[in-house]
Amino acid sequence: MEPLNNNNRGFSSNLGAILAATGGAIGLGNIWRFPYTVGQNGGGAFIIMYIVFVFLLGVPVMMSEIIIGRRSQQNVVGAFRVLAPKHKGWMGVGFLGIAAAFIIYAFYSVVAGWTLNYIVLSSSGQLTGKSPIEISQLFVTFTQGSFLPLVYQFLFFALTASIIILGVQKGIEKYTKILMPILFFLMILLCVRSLTLSGAKEGLDFIFKPDFSKINGSSVLDALGQALFSLSIGMGALITYGSYIRKEDNLFTTSLWIAGADTFIAILAGVAIFPAVFAFGLSPAAGPSLVYEVLPNVFNSMPGGRFFAILFFVLLTIAALTSTISLLEVLVLWAVEELHWSRRKAAIILSFVVFVIGAFCTFSFGLLSNLKIFGLTIFGLCDKLTATYMMPIGALLFTLFIGWYLPKTEVYDELSNSGQLKARYFKIFYFIIRYIAPIALTIILLTGIFS
Ligand code: TRP
Repeated sequence: MEPLNNNNRGFSSNLGAILAATGGAIGLGNIWRFPYTVGQNGGGAFIIMYIVFVFLLGVPVMMSEIIIGRRSQQNVVGAFRVLAPKHKGWMGVGFLGIAAAFIIYAFYSVVAGWTLNYIVLSSSGQLTGKSPIEISQLFVTFTQGSFLPLVYQFLFFALTASIIILGVQKGIEKYTKILMPILFFLMILLCVRSLTLSGAKEGLDFIFKPDFSKINGSSVLDALGQALFSLSIGMGALITYGSYIRKEDNLFTTSLWIAGADTFIAILAGVAIFPAVFAFGLSPAAGPSLVYEVLPNVFNSMPGGRFFAILFFVLLTIAALTSTISLLEVLVLWAVEELHWSRRKAAIILSFVVFVIGAFCTFSFGLLSNLKIFGLTIFGLCDKLTATYMMPIGALLFTLFIGWYLPKTEVYDELSNSGQLKARYFKIFYFIIRYIAPIALTIILLTGIFS
């Protein structure tokens, strides 16, 4: 079990903290969800709005979560017990975070499992030489069949749990330090390949030439939901990792690094994907199946395609893995500290529980595809419920906690490391957290609920 002593509770260095948190943030959200959401919302203008949300709302909310974690040195639920001992109701916010982690992990692991299968398919050459229709059929047959997706999903749970069992420094920090540089390198390779295809320009125009007539109410919502989802904020993942950040680290620069790296990788994913999609005359608006149904055709039509296909799916797996590590850690730290389970027991039992919910998400593509709740499949419901409702609600409550509940002096103390750092941005930060963020999040939530 982790010692609760501040000095060795968590990460051993600032770089370790940044890489682990960035690993949690960068995931399927950047490489699978971001490109198709951009594709469905018309490109450049959406990206600009997304970036504004990331830095104006995302970074301050991220800092709030990290403050809650580092100040309390606790899991998501314990954090509120420690910081609001007289108002136990705040612990409900922690439980909301735990619930969100369960649901996100359940549907996230489905797509993560698909990715493992696509490593196998691409390296064994089963995608090579297939027509677009055959590739779509392959995807549909695979995802509709229940057995194989479950096996891969299970493998993903096992992989994640085995790293979590090794602990914060020897598991999470060590593996993210190895995996993140690989991810970055693979991404650059893919971008170079995509940009050197003839016809790449149209795809670049799609990403970088904004057409504001394509923005409407629902794309504003999508941009905010995507920003929160991609930064992993609004559910306490950063409370958990925040509690592992050393007392001497600068929370502002740490947050900027995480948000900056996450946004950079999302845009690189766009640069790797859209030029290739346009170069081969395919549609950018294919939706969630974009990387599984559209990209294999792209790889098939380019020189070196099989090699780049393998690279791409390995990259996607790494991105997903560092995120599932962070998701499971939210649950495990909670069970270790609140239920007094051992790390191993928590990792194994919680993985099984999520696997059961996750299985329903997998079945929602086959066996249970006709089961619709509010017009959505179980998988779609889990995605919508978390990104559109739970994460914005969580973000709103975190900002209210930091802006209105915790004394201002404590917030300043945490950001300035008890006066050692200047924290000149503090006034702006506090203004955003007190007024701008809660108002913006409320408007967005209400629009989401009533539209
Ligand atoms: N940010 C992750 C991604 O982009 C997804 C995610 C959302 C997440 N919330 C999380 C990951 C909490 C870890 C913890 O893929």
